[in-house]
Amino acid sequence: MFHKIALAVALTVFTAGMVWKVSTWFRYSLGPGGSCFSPSRRIVAAGRGLVLTLMSRKVFTLVKVFFLDAVLQRPVFREDFLRWLMHLGIYGGFVFLLLVHAFDTYLVAPFFPDYASTLNPFLFLREVGGALILFGLALAIYRRFFRRVQRPRTSLMDVYAMAMVGVIIFSGFFLEAAKITSNRSFQDMVEAYTTQADDQEIRALESYWVEDFGLVSPSVRGPFDAATLARGKAVHELNCAQCHAAPAWGFVGYAMSVAMRPIALLADRAGLPGALTWLHYLSALLFLAYLPFSKMFHMFAGPLSLMINAVQGGRFNPANAATRQMIELDACTHCGACTFRCSVAVAINEIPNLNILPSEKISSLKRLAFGANLGKRQLRALQQGVVLCTNCNRCSIACPVGIRLRDLWFSARERLLENSMEEFQLLSPLAYYRGLQRERLDEERYRKPVDLALDGIIVKPSGNGDTLNVGGKELLGALRSSIQANSLSNCYRCGACTNSCPVVRNYSHPSEVLGLLPHQLMHAVGLRCWDLVFGSKMLWNCLGCYQCQDNCPQCVSVTDIMYELKNRAISHKYQEMEQ
Ligand code: HEC
Ligand code: SF4
Ligand code: SF4
Ligand code: SF4
Ligand code: SF4
Repeated sequence: MFHKIALAVALTVFTAGMVWKVSTWFRYSLGPGGSCFSPSRRIVAAGRGLVLTLMSRKVFTLVKVFFLDAVLQRPVFREDFLRWLMHLGIYGGFVFLLLVHAFDTYLVAPFFPDYASTLNPFLFLREVGGALILFGLALAIYRRFFRRVQRPRTSLMDVYAMAMVGVIIFSGFFLEAAKITSNRSFQDMVEAYTTQADDQEIRALESYWVEDFGLVSPSVRGPFDAATLARGKAVHELNCAQCHAAPAWGFVGYAMSVAMRPIALLADRAGLPGALTWLHYLSALLFLAYLPFSKMFHMFAGPLSLMINAVQGGRFNPANAATRQMIELDACTHCGACTFRCSVAVAINEIPNLNILPSEKISSLKRLAFGANLGKRQLRALQQGVVLCTNCNRCSIACPVGIRLRDLWFSARERLLENSMEEFQLLSPLAYYRGLQRERLDEERYRKPVDLALDGIIVKPSGNGDTLNVGGKELLGALRSSIQANSLSNCYRCGACTNSCPVVRNYSHPSEVLGLLPHQLMHAVGLRCWDLVFGSKMLWNCLGCYQCQDNCPQCVSVTDIMYELKNRAISHKYQEMEQ
């Protein structure tokens, strides 16, 4: 009775959780302007996309991706064979056990009228499923502790998932072992299933079970004579054999039962099988109920993400783009493959901000999408993480669930910009990718943050002769100590740099638009006229193309100096904002 209630509660929580999870895909969005679409419009758009896909040739792609990439895990196979083996063991075994063991009454029994969990092939197959999980867990431990595979970070959620699988599987095997040895189970069974057997026959049966079935009995003890065993076998065949294969077919549980024989009687009297039954049952139910809220939800979102990204070409309904990104956020397994490949992940050694690592950034992105109240500090940290990304896209290629990570970063970046978070890196070549994506944004959305940043960073002449203090003396010292900037003293103001600059060439009256031109900038630096230097738009329009530096007859590192000045101004600005 109680176990039925527990099952009902778990299933209810699970179902409610699933419905809630799926609803968030349509209610929230990461990128800017996602709120332009109402949930109902997004549901309609998704439904339309689904129907159109199912009616087109793309349906074959869907099937292929589902089997090869989601079920057989081809992307993981390509990336790391051991990890593939580990994952397939754990999840293959788990799904198998779920179907043929946890839901056997509904999924197996109807097809096999003589079904009993203690009969073959079910007994053996169930054991193979469990052994697969054990094998996967062992591989995971080996990789983590002996081969020391580089992993960015283990989160609480990772620990939860592994611990839960461990508890369920070990309580299962332990329970099997305890029951094999259990005298109480034996006595109950004898009471239920022996008809017309006298005491002697039952003793013989018990002897037979002790000898061949691993039972530990308080009353009968070997060695037994052949006649008793033969008699016991006959009773067994008459009463028990239709439901019982030799327990050794459950090889893991049987091996454990052999090991626990010395304490079996004590354990049985203390009610160990009952306690383990509850532990196994309740932990499985807890796992099920919490599944939609845990990272295990990737079991559903992962294949979906893979399939959607396989059939969605470059252009698609923006309403679906927002939905896709929400599914992707749920699909992440926190495997770390992206961080392992990331070209800027090493920066974490210098800048202690976890948001630099793609695998860790995902959780911040989730909170951003859900509109969680992130503090200014957290937003800045996230922004830094997104901005430092070089958009190399190596993460997306490595991701086993097909998440288009670079797109996620882009959406997050624009979302932060939309909230009027000034971002001066927009003015640096790191914003190149944003320029390439310009057509995805309308002109105003593209321009606004750039103007905001320019406005924030360009120094306006104060008029009262104060020299600006972007580091002042310190700046000069920094420039002096930099090898590149030292070359400045060689400049004889020939203007070759300016003449080779494509930005300058772009305007008929460059000085009006850009302020100081490259050779004038160099001159102003030499004269330490910082307000002129940092008030010049040239600095921020420079493409970093190195034409000037290549053409300088005096080998002045013009472009490198430009970089140095920009970095200086930006870090000065951030410091100012932090105060
Ligand atoms: C109608 C089928 C059926 C018959 C007949 C039957 N059993 Fe069982 N028996 C089971 C099932 C099913 C289990 C597992 C119950 C569970 O999961 O707790 C079991 C469990 C047991 C266990 C606990 C160990 C284990 O493998 O789970 C013992 C011991 C046992 N039976 C002994 C006997 C004996 C002795 C007889 C003959 C007198 C017998 N059974 C007859 C179905 C049967
Ligand atoms: S796109 Fe960004 S996050 Fe992804 S691997 Fe490259 S640098 Fe790292
Ligand atoms: S984004 Fe992909 S590669 Fe990165 S941790 Fe998540 S699942 Fe793994
Ligand atoms: S080309 Fe070289 S030497 Fe000539 S002005 Fe520019 S920095 Fe100076
Ligand atoms: S690096 Fe900058 S200043 Fe030099 S030529 Fe290129 S755009 Fe002009």
